[in-house]
Amino acid sequence: MTVDPTGRLISAGASKPAGPGVHHVPKNIDADQVKRIISVTGRLPRVPPVAAQMMELVGRQDATVWDLEKVISSDQVLAARILETANSVFYSFDQKISALSHAIVILGFRAVQSMSIAHSSCDLFRRGMQFGPKEKHRWEHSIGCAMSCRQISRVVGYKQEETAFITGLLHDVGKAVLYEAIPKRYGRIVEIVDGEPRSLAEVENENLGFHHGHVGALIAQRWNFSGEVVEAIATHHEARTNGGALSAILAASNDICHGMDAGTERVGEKPASDGWAAAALSLDEKACSRVREMVTEIVEVERNLYEL
Ligand SMILES: [Fe+2]
Ligand SMILES: [Fe+2]
Repeated sequence: MTVDPTGRLISAGASKPAGPGVHHVPKNIDADQVKRIISVTGRLPRVPPVAAQMMELVGRQDATVWDLEKVISSDQVLAARILETANSVFYSFDQKISALSHAIVILGFRAVQSMSIAHSSCDLFRRGMQFGPKEKHRWEHSIGCAMSCRQISRVVGYKQEETAFITGLLHDVGKAVLYEAIPKRYGRIVEIVDGEPRSLAEVENENLGFHHGHVGALIAQRWNFSGEVVEAIATHHEARTNGGALSAILAASNDICHGMDAGTERVGEKPASDGWAAAALSLDEKACSRVREMVTEIVEVERNLYEL
């Protein structure tokens, strides 16, 4: 076991984490950076409506399947895709599932909440940019990272696996926002990274005075996510953080997902298991490979749900 019941890392080498659910401004974003982010991006995006309603339900102890069904029914595409997913091969059942309430029970209450938030966030990643192969790839990376965060949570005993899913989903939302706000300038930054052995976060910092993790953290904070989520997103490109288990889970997932594809972040050529996050979570290469396999399998099944 590498995570204690409060979400703290207890494996060797882990530094003292912030407790989960603590709301605070991430320590590594200062007031000047916040000002710079706002001057570059303008108004930060609002929570997509279905995601907002879902998040409200996530925070309610008395939420029922019927509450969930009502929110999902407000988006017919989402409703159809939840049913399709419940009926997919992965969840092989003899009878066809035609009621949303049944699909929610089959897939799991919290998992359906995450799926709905992910589905309704898709537009956020597409806004202001042509949805070409690169953008599709970024969205695919976010979904892969979300799934990887959930899988790693299960492996290491981190109880808030759906919080981890959402953290993985949103960790790079700052890139989409920057693409929309300053397409030419941000395009040049990405071009530099393509041509030089430097990380995206490093080149962003040099050119903008902040990186996409900072933008994502600010968005997560304005959407009222816990301090733990905000911190994890803000620091996902730091070599080692003082964050809790969620920071390590996100950083390990990012490493694993960049090992699976040709991501633009240049997180290193080494295997994910060599990274600080995998070490902090005691994930060896075999465990990382298993996570990779699981993510590949689930992405195939849930491809339509996330418009991949
Ligand atoms: Fe990133
Ligand atoms: Fe990433």
